[in-house]
Amino acid sequence: MAHEFDGKKYEQASAHQKEWGAKVIAELDLRGTESVLDLGCGDGALTLQIAGQLSQGRVLGIDASKGMIEAAMPNETVNLEFMVMDIDDLDFGEEFDVVFSNATLHWVKDHRRLLGNVRRALRPGGRVRFDFAGEGNCMNFFSVVREIMALDRFADVFAGYEWPWYMPSVEAYTELAEESGLRNVRVWGGNADRFFPERDAMIRWIDQPSIVPLLAVLPESLRVPFRDEVVERMVERTLQPDGTCFETFRRINLAAEK
Ligand SMILES: C[S@@+](CC[C@H](N)C(=O)[O-])C[C@H]1O[C@@H](n2cnc3c(N)ncnc32)[C@H](O)[C@@H]1O
Repeated sequence: MAHEFDGKKYEQASAHQKEWGAKVIAELDLRGTESVLDLGCGDGALTLQIAGQLSQGRVLGIDASKGMIEAAMPNETVNLEFMVMDIDDLDFGEEFDVVFSNATLHWVKDHRRLLGNVRRALRPGGRVRFDFAGEGNCMNFFSVVREIMALDRFADVFAGYEWPWYMPSVEAYTELAEESGLRNVRVWGGNADRFFPERDAMIRWIDQPSIVPLLAVLPESLRVPFRDEVVERMVERTLQPDGTCFETFRRINLAAEK
């Protein structure tokens, strides 16, 4: 299930996603002629970077959030296009040389279907490169959120709630990727643990995007109390003596070919 985000706020709250993404783009070592698909392009800043390396190629960024695509649209150029599309509905046939995705695919639950659709979207010899959240990610945020979901005031609303994220181990994802029919599969983890420079930077990250799928199920009257409780406990738990706030960021990387 996809969620609605505020693309403008995300622009201000996504320095670390942009940092990881820029590294992955550099590693792609693009020739400049490729056709690239960016899954979950968000505000389009990384898609724009890719377009800048494609003097004779093109890139399509897709995202399910209208708010994100609205923020991305001003970046459109002759070789850069954005589209509102749910990753679960990918339906391309041998159109792309590279399928790229950064900081997105932990929002997608069915990776068997995803990898099948990505394989179909690739031209023969095409490449996949994903970086998304893996096992051990956001340990503080998830334990705080689970505690607060269980409080009397919120427990009824969250009874039967489906956890919105998929963050696999390297072993589990290797198995899945190898079963997808892709070749030369490489899966590896990564530790991108982070000290937010100050508490407000962490709070901006909680607000956009992290807490969004949890607020979506709450009635209006409980949203602010839930959010404030999460923020308060996160500050209590992660604030360091020097004013920074610590959180774990663990990655899953996939590189493979068709
Ligand atoms: C953290 S942002 C990452 C954006 C961008 N790739 C970056 O690195 O800055 C995650 C993005 O995934 C998108 N997303 C999540 N689930 C999706 C789905 N099922 N289909 C399409 N986009 C999805 C969200 O709307 C959001 O823009």
